[in-house]
Amino acid sequence: MRLLPAGVTIVTSGPPGRRNGFTATAVCSVAADPPHLLVCANRGMETHSTILETGHFAVNVLSHGQEALADRFGGRLGIEGEARFQGAEWHILASGAPILVNACAAFDCEVTQHVTVATHDVIIGRVLAATDHEAAAPLAYLDRDYAFCVPAGGRY
Ligand SMILES: Cc1cc2nc3c(=O)[nH]c(=O)nc-3n(C[C@H](O)[C@H](O)[C@H](O)COP(=O)(O)O)c2cc1C
Repeated sequence: MRLLPAGVTIVTSGPPGRRNGFTATAVCSVAADPPHLLVCANRGMETHSTILETGHFAVNVLSHGQEALADRFGGRLGIEGEARFQGAEWHILASGAPILVNACAAFDCEVTQHVTVATHDVIIGRVLAATDHEAAAPLAYLDRDYAFCVPAGGRY
């Protein structure tokens, strides 16, 4: 799987003061009409409990230059919970889940179902609202390292 390029996202949930989130590459679109996506979340994470308690989550697609934020929410800096949100600007759209203001794209979702597979839950969400900043180049992850995606058409 390390050779399958993936987009880097931060999955967030919870109200102000009780926010949490984690870096995720296991994110995938499911259906377009109505729009649904899925996230695979380790069941041991606090964010996993918050998502199932609130019934909401957001997927924030990171852009090139936001590697430090990915490390922070990936648990690589030893920073946890609400403290992970410091140093970046957040707002909310429809559900109340934290949306990164300068995310490449963001999807605000309500949980429709979840399926347990070994250590993880596959959480499916219906997209309630979405934003994008198309000028930002999305951040990718490949071979255990961050990577820069360049469309063949050379948009960035
Ligand atoms: C690039 C990257 C991608 C990751 N993708 C996922 C993922 O798709 N699902 C997941 O459950 N954890 C994933 N993780 C691990 C979680 O981000 C990490 O376990 C989490 O931040 C730990 O949070 P906690 O300290 O609240 O338990 C990823 C980490 C990194 C650095």
